[in-house]
Amino acid sequence: MSSPFDRFSGLPEFQFRRLAALLEGIAPRTGTDVLDLTVGEPKHAPPPMLAETVAAHAGSWNRYPPPLGTDSFRRTVTDWLVRRFDLPDGLIDPERNVLPLAGTKEGLFLLPSVLNGKANAVALMPSPLYAVYAGAAALADAEPVGLPAVAEHHFLPDLDSLDDSLLDRTTVFFLCSPANPQGAVAGPDYLARLLQLARRHDFLFVADECYSEIYDREAPTGALEVAAGSGGGLRNLVVMHSLSKRSNAAGLRSGFVAGDGEVIRRFARLRAYGGAVQPMPVMAAAERLWQDEEHVIRNREAYRRKIDLAERRLGNRFGFFRPKGGFFLWLDVGDGEEAALRLWREAALKVLPGSFLTFASPTGTDTACDPGRRYIRVALVHDEPIVDEALGRLVDTLG
Ligand SMILES: Cc1ncc(COP(=O)(O)O)c(C=O)c1O
Repeated sequence: MSSPFDRFSGLPEFQFRRLAALLEGIAPRTGTDVLDLTVGEPKHAPPPMLAETVAAHAGSWNRYPPPLGTDSFRRTVTDWLVRRFDLPDGLIDPERNVLPLAGTKEGLFLLPSVLNGKANAVALMPSPLYAVYAGAAALADAEPVGLPAVAEHHFLPDLDSLDDSLLDRTTVFFLCSPANPQGAVAGPDYLARLLQLARRHDFLFVADECYSEIYDREAPTGALEVAAGSGGGLRNLVVMHSLSKRSNAAGLRSGFVAGDGEVIRRFARLRAYGGAVQPMPVMAAAERLWQDEEHVIRNREAYRRKIDLAERRLGNRFGFFRPKGGFFLWLDVGDGEEAALRLWREAALKVLPGSFLTFASPTGTDTACDPGRRYIRVALVHDEPIVDEALGRLVDTLG
């Protein structure tokens, strides 16, 4: 008899638990601080306006927040999208096309459950990936299929490699741009092609744009920009945005989803039953943060300085390249697990082996071709002196 937990039993252990298991019983080098470069949690301070706005709205903690958010929140994020991506008026209706999320993790996980099923449904996602996509697929009863996002294809899934029979079975396609972990950015042609495939094969393109405001030289194109020029409105597309990285506010748990009116309608209906709501003071603080770009500019500059530092420290070692977006280094160290063990033992550095971030479909697992096997992911979230110290130790250890 099948157990109610079967749906999730095929998911790999979450990356940080896998790392804990790898390092268990192994002492880090003594006589120096342990530096943790694994978690993509911002260490820069959020702007004071966050706490000030929460405090100013303390009178509303007694209120049940509306599950669909306030009108004012939906209007504010719509205005931000229009400004940021230069969208035509009327493309996004704040009433029909936008919902708040208690962090995009929650939205990514739950939203695909409202999609129509297909026989032998699959959910396509890059590999390496943000693991929540695989959990979302399982919840939505679709087989998660990892598409290798390797250097030869600019660290993006190769759309030309997908055959029609796979695309016909696809219910949802997650794309992360800028990508966690490689910082790859999908250009307008790539996004337009994916949207076209979504419409032709009737699946939902979920554009995870959580790192869109942390970029090196050019502001990444948003999938909504491409939709605006596509002639099909927002059909078959949702985008997700978050304050976690943009405003160093991961603890606020605030993001939003915008896109296809029918998908948003169904998702809103589901949320009336069980989605996570946004407390009123949180929603007010979020609005304030979306209205301000000054703190975002400063934040971006702080990350850029750390990428400059990494470039100086690493040069052309470990296949270093400047990520176009995000705040991770994706370093080719030959064997990611072995390097993670050495860095822990010999330098008291915690990094994630790339293979803990990859996901192959049950039909396509081949560790020799694992696109993460040769890599480690290094999060540049700490302040510059710590990043400098960490990269110095990394170079001294792995040469
Ligand atoms: C690629 C990606 N998407 C989404 C998220 C979720 O962010 P949040 O739930 O804080 O908005 C993260 C968090 O690390 C991420 O790396």
